Amino acid sequence: MFKRTIPLLQRVSKPFYITTPIFYPNAAPHLGHLYSMLLCDVRNRWAKLSGNDSFFTTGTDEHGLKIQLAAEAKNVPPKQFVDSLALVFKDLAATCSIDYDRFIRTTDEDHVKAVEQVWNTLQEKGWIYEGEHEGWYAISDETFYPRTQIKQEEDGKWVSIESGSEVKLTKEKNYFFKLSEFREKLIQLLESNPQWIIPGQKYNELLNELKSQPLADLSVSRPSARLKWGIQVPGDDSQRIYVWIDALVNYLTSCKYPELNQYWSNATHLIGKDIIRFHCVYWPALLMAAEIPLPKQVVVHGHWLCEGSKMSKSKGNVVDPLQIINDYGVDPVRFFLCENSVLNGDNNFSVESLQRSRDQLVDKYSNLVMRCCGKKFNVERALKEYDTLNEHQFEDPILQQQLTNLKQSINSLYDKMNTDMVQLNTAAAIQEFWSVISDANQFIQDSEPWKREQLEKDLIILMGVETARVASILIQPVMPELSLKVLDRLNVVNRDLSHAKFGADKSYGKGINRAGDYPMTK
Ligand code: MSP
Repeated sequence: MFKRTIPLLQRVSKPFYITTPIFYPNAAPHLGHLYSMLLCDVRNRWAKLSGNDSFFTTGTDEHGLKIQLAAEAKNVPPKQFVDSLALVFKDLAATCSIDYDRFIRTTDEDHVKAVEQVWNTLQEKGWIYEGEHEGWYAISDETFYPRTQIKQEEDGKWVSIESGSEVKLTKEKNYFFKLSEFREKLIQLLESNPQWIIPGQKYNELLNELKSQPLADLSVSRPSARLKWGIQVPGDDSQRIYVWIDALVNYLTSCKYPELNQYWSNATHLIGKDIIRFHCVYWPALLMAAEIPLPKQVVVHGHWLCEGSKMSKSKGNVVDPLQIINDYGVDPVRFFLCENSVLNGDNNFSVESLQRSRDQLVDKYSNLVMRCCGKKFNVERALKEYDTLNEHQFEDPILQQQLTNLKQSINSLYDKMNTDMVQLNTAAAIQEFWSVISDANQFIQDSEPWKREQLEKDLIILMGVETARVASILIQPVMPELSLKVLDRLNVVNRDLSHAKFGADKSYGKGINRAGDYPMTK
């Protein structure tokens, strides 16, 4: 009788879910926005390449006083205003090959319902109460600051020490969330999950802060008289839900809350260092209160500086992502941002380093490909003779060692890059890519194939082209367009992970040994 040996369930790939913060759309997109979209896009593509069932969301945070005031100043209804602004972010994503699964807007109907539902749940479970709030509120940051975190400027205005935004003393009726009751639970969460926030430095800072200071309850609504553009508190027309609660729930909406699909408990939130408190204190506390499972991890990145200093309009050093893409191309910019950034600190942008990064792609990567495509070589023939070539040994022990090492490096490239990619350590993953490319270039240079008889000439070029092929398959998540051009140039059809090994594909290479058709030039 026929028996199924592998149960169907075992073949279902593991779900993965990654999110960017949702962006305030009232300012033009900057490099920081592109960076967080890009990191998530690369991670999502890497998960897909690795065979995971991956889901990636980004979007816009459209409610709040800031938007309301900006729309009023322009004399347009707020919804019409945000409709046009959301498009700018969608266009940025499209231009930069950001392949999200959902672009969520906080004005989406299902999102508004999800926020109301979360609110009702919190209220039913007794975590929300009515009170009066007096505090220093910064409109542009949509947040109250404690007295210790503000200072008076020379012109008499009070500002937040952290953001520099103006704050005003404000008194109002508010609903409060009993955040103070979650301090112990948050400490426990962190202590039992040391990887819940990465990098470790951010984890330590937050844990120390939680241990050393009490937590105050959180004001979670604003009077409708002041905040008109927001989701109404269910059952109380006089209040609107605090925009950060509204915004954080986006991560649930995309997972079809309240049912919640397979992605939710595998969620990774990527955030900038300025919004740790919202994601690592308020968010887990709200989820615990509503008895919703927590996301798996929060990954924190630093900020991009321009030529060493903070980007600001007044300094005139704000990097426009569309401008650099226009000047240098999408994939070189993607590659540069991934190659030159670490999570554990701020990153520096300069046109010189972008140019250098781009030049290297031409000099080392594209050049390796074009060397292998030279008219004096014959990749198709080399692949046909694969078995013979694979057994051949060079007389020179140094060359033979180089060849053995290169084969090993090609075969271990995925594992090495994977260790870094799952930690969003793109710079280290790219170093692995460069290392194997450099070794292949060095091997070709040292072995001088042009001086050798056919068999060794074919073997050397096989090593070069196999490096280019496997490295290109694995760099697809970072440079989807350039890798596509390279793989097209090499006539490679099989671009999945199962082919990212030495000798795993012998079906390519037809007609590639001809002049021209550079995948990339200076
Ligand atoms: N709307 C909120 C997030 C709500 S998520 C539930 C918000 N929006 S934002 O547009 O101001 O910021 C979005 C992201 O951009 C944040 O992660 C922030 O850290 C990041 N960046 C802002 N400036 C940045 C740089 N200069 N460099 C890198 N990232 C930067 O906060």
